[in-house]
Amino acid sequence: MPNSTPADLFLSEVKDLYDAEKQLLRALPRIAKNAANDELANAFRTHVQETKGQIGRLEQIFEQLGQRAKSKPCKGMKGLLEEGQEVMEEKGREEVTDCAIAGAGRKVEHYEMAGYIAAQEMAKALGMKEAAQLLNETLEEEKEMDRRLKALSSQLIKEAKTAGMGMEEEEGQGQSRGRGRGRSSSASNGKNGKSASASSGRSSNGRKASNGNGRKASAGRGSGNAGGSKLSHMLTDHDEIKQWAEERGAHPACVKGTGRKKNDTGMIRLDFPGFSGEESLQEISWDEFFDQFDENGLALVVQEKTSGGARSNFNKLVRRQ
Ligand SMILES: [Fe+2]
Repeated sequence: MPNSTPADLFLSEVKDLYDAEKQLLRALPRIAKNAANDELANAFRTHVQETKGQIGRLEQIFEQLGQRAKSKPCKGMKGLLEEGQEVMEEKGREEVTDCAIAGAGRKVEHYEMAGYIAAQEMAKALGMKEAAQLLNETLEEEKEMDRRLKALSSQLIKEAKTAGMGMEEEEGQGQSRGRGRGRSSSASNGKNGKSASASSGRSSNGRKASNGNGRKASAGRGSGNAGGSKLSHMLTDHDEIKQWAEERGAHPACVKGTGRKKNDTGMIRLDFPGFSGEESLQEISWDEFFDQFDENGLALVVQEKTSGGARSNFNKLVRRQ
């Protein structure tokens, strides 16, 4: 049916958004399953609930319009999801695939944001204040999801670079982290029902049980033996962790933008001052750090010395099990 009036056009846009959200709702569990990084998978899983709420808001708008909720095929979303599927099917290193999945997710969010901005403007012009408000609520959620994916993307890219260094180099990686990146390789996002995780270590193919380095781990990459190094050991005692960090000038931090709500610390790290973590990391108290640490059942694998005998900054947050 042609859009002969602005109200027809608005209805058509709402139908398009309705279809886009429904397509995404079907795709999100699959995307989460393909994300090897726990934080990334959690971001998509959390968005499932949000997307259901967004569909509910669109249904309220249909009601306000006196119309039955109905979809109009959204070709834009279909194309974006097809591209996302291709990304997931490519058999690359999982760290790199995660970067691509996060990027594909951001494309979807920006597409949705554009759709909601346009629809909101139409609703305002048509004097539909309630509809405009509902559309704005969803727009804010999409923006928040995009912010979260942005923060994760920048971490994942850095970690994919590190992971590409290779197993043999991992023992020395702590040193290079200390010099180059200056942060621990782990994270958690535990409050609000999200699971803990960490980040950068490498795993091969396994994508299920976490080894706590943020990836759903492969066998043999477990805790207490970071990178296969015999020089590393696992710490869970708060005082010992503090001591290890303070001896190296490191302080507790979180990755900016990864907390989902107020008072949610987000992904935790150890940051070594003067290194490149300063832009993306924010200092937190040891209490906040250990709240996340314990809540998510984490342990810190550390290396005291490199094989050459120098003090090592190598560290990795892993799951205690
Ligand atoms: Fe959405």
